Amino acid sequence: MDITLSVIKADIGSIGGHIAPSQKLLATVRDHIKKHGEGLIRDHYISFTGDDIAIVMTHTRGEGDEAVHKLAWDAFIAGTAVAKQQGLYGAGQDLLKDSFSGNVKGMGPAVAEMKFSERPNEPFLFFAADKTDPGAYNLPLYLAFADPMNTPGLMLAPSLAKGFRFVIMDVAHTEGDRVIELNAPEDLYDIAALLRDPERFVVESIWSRTTGEQAVSVSTSRLHNIAGKYTGKDDPVMLVRVQKDFPATGEILAPYALGHFVAGSMRGSHQMPLMPVQLNSGISYFDGPPVVSCAAFAMHEGKFTEPMDAFAHPFWSKVRDNVADKALDMRRQGFFGAAMLPMSELEYTGIMEKLAKLEERFKVRKE
Ligand code: F6R
Ligand code: MG
Ligand code: MG
Repeated sequence: MDITLSVIKADIGSIGGHIAPSQKLLATVRDHIKKHGEGLIRDHYISFTGDDIAIVMTHTRGEGDEAVHKLAWDAFIAGTAVAKQQGLYGAGQDLLKDSFSGNVKGMGPAVAEMKFSERPNEPFLFFAADKTDPGAYNLPLYLAFADPMNTPGLMLAPSLAKGFRFVIMDVAHTEGDRVIELNAPEDLYDIAALLRDPERFVVESIWSRTTGEQAVSVSTSRLHNIAGKYTGKDDPVMLVRVQKDFPATGEILAPYALGHFVAGSMRGSHQMPLMPVQLNSGISYFDGPPVVSCAAFAMHEGKFTEPMDAFAHPFWSKVRDNVADKALDMRRQGFFGAAMLPMSELEYTGIMEKLAKLEERFKVRKE
């Protein structure tokens, strides 16, 4: 059976700053999808990660479907009304356009989707990250799909032996989708050369070269490029099909033990380590640290099992402690050097105005 998995997420307001949505806001979004999704979608799962609410849906209508996108958009509109009533901070923050037009792409909410023929058993992972941007997944995806040091399946499993095709997007290009397709393992160094720059080049999707099937879909939107000014970080969602012709769940999860440094945290302007957290976790230290959650599912004819919280296992407590140590270490150097993002990535314009004023006061000494 052909199934489309769609996840659409947005920040439409939160308690205590940019920390977490209220229960009432979540309930409003849930009620809307339950009531209006009937006959349209086969199943859904709604969760929050930091201040973002994600709606995962299954249906048979393909990617970019107007009715499915509108269902999510309208749920966020209904939620925004409640967020305003409750005085939540940043109510409707990610809904950047006044009216819905065909598809939520380019309207603020992040989207990741894939259409595939459902396997007899179809395990998949849903990731959501907050206080960071889509490039945060570059390193974990590179390790999981291209490096046998992380993924022994690339060596051991015949179904993985041909490797994977990476579709990488240049997110600085705003006049349309600028993409390149590269194959692992042959193009490994080229893939590495692009993915090392996660603010510019972002993995959009990954495909099996054995079966041609899609393994990964990442939301690649950059709010900054849509709104033309800072409106929050892009807080990416991702869908990953696992096992059999794809890496195993454990091979996909393993890279998150690194706690690698990503762009984000306070004012979307710092380098901080990415902490794997439990489902429905809020944000705390230094408007961060950037967090990632993962719900694992099985699915049959588009119906989900209950989610399994992939980062709830005791193993990840030690990782979290380590990430907290890394975060504290980085914060000791405040805004200096690597702790803060380069000028081009700073999300607040105040410093640009400051620098422009200082520019006038510089003088070149006469010899
Ligand atoms: C980061 C983020 C927060 C805010 C910060 C200031 O993505 O959302 O760090 O940038 O809390 O928020 P404002 O400018 O809304 O007071
Ligand atoms: Mg926010
Ligand atoms: Mg957010």
